[in-house]
Amino acid sequence: DKGGHKHWMAKEIAEQPTVLADALAHYLPEGAKGVNLPGVDLDFAGVDRIVMVACGTAFYACQTAKYWFEQLARIPVEVDIASEFRYREPPLGDNTLAIFVSQSGETADTLAALRYCADKAKILSVVNVAESSIARESDVALPILAGAEIGVASTKAFTCQLTVLALLALKAAQDRAALPAETLAQHVGNLRLLPGRIARALDAGEAIRELSWELAEASDVLFLGRGPMYPLALEGALKLKEISYIHAEGYASGELKHGPLALVDSTLPVIVMAPRDGLFDKTISNVQEVMARGGRVLLITDAEGAAEASAGAWHVLEMPSVPPIFAPILYAVPAQLLAYHTAIAKGTDVDQPRNLAKSVTVE
Ligand code: M6R
Repeated sequence: DKGGHKHWMAKEIAEQPTVLADALAHYLPEGAKGVNLPGVDLDFAGVDRIVMVACGTAFYACQTAKYWFEQLARIPVEVDIASEFRYREPPLGDNTLAIFVSQSGETADTLAALRYCADKAKILSVVNVAESSIARESDVALPILAGAEIGVASTKAFTCQLTVLALLALKAAQDRAALPAETLAQHVGNLRLLPGRIARALDAGEAIRELSWELAEASDVLFLGRGPMYPLALEGALKLKEISYIHAEGYASGELKHGPLALVDSTLPVIVMAPRDGLFDKTISNVQEVMARGGRVLLITDAEGAAEASAGAWHVLEMPSVPPIFAPILYAVPAQLLAYHTAIAKGTDVDQPRNLAKSVTVE
């Protein structure tokens, strides 16, 4: 039942405030002290390296979580695509934790990578399907509690994966005494605000629908982000190409002048995901380089960012403000809505894009 929505994807995007709240309520029960996640029988004090492995959107969730584990808990993290990792036969140290992220829990390459690590490291998985092969073969399996995801394009599973990974990073910070208790409590409080903020971010749907008609005319689109917004730029590009068939690429803003700036002309929409964080000025100077070459910039930012940097932009979308470290969870929403409405404008099959399967059980 699509609950009154035209597509599963629309329903799944709209469900995010609810499923995120469910996941938070499960992992942070009312009245619990600190970040002691139920079912996580693991002490990060004994972990000196994390290896994260996944495919597609789940891989981008891992790339985002790298920023969190490193910045909050000071644990070095390596992230890899499952199809590369499994054949590289990477060495794993004694105190390495291997984390596998998969919505379906059945992705062939991710499962094979997990099996490679099985006798070499502690295995933790973050899955949506609790009875899946990946969950069964893990030492610790954490459900993301997103509910069934039917649309091939992953939406609510991504934001729930990010939420569970953010909680894990906070638990790691607590176990390793890497943050003062008040700072930890502040981060937890900020995560709890997300469902409400995401509900407000969904209000941008109408503005996005209107501009998507123009986006649908483009043959290429560039997504830019910096820091934890960089993996989200990659995810935004994947979402758009997957369902609208428009060629899209995600780049770290700082890489712009190392090549992709050559693509910029008046036909190229450049979507910039930039909350007003400590790196905002650097991102905006990249944006100015794009505008100086006639590029059409869609700036997605918060009120403060919009007040500072709207001049010359093609469009500006204003998101509710959130602490920058967790902004990727919120900014996933406009990325999903842009892909959704652009695909609708192009008349493609949103829920079942050509050539793709929901669960990739062959390599
Ligand atoms: O079930 P999984 O999370 O392991 O699937 C991984 C990818 O196949 C998946 O995220 C894919 O990239 C999505 N269709 C992207 O929207």
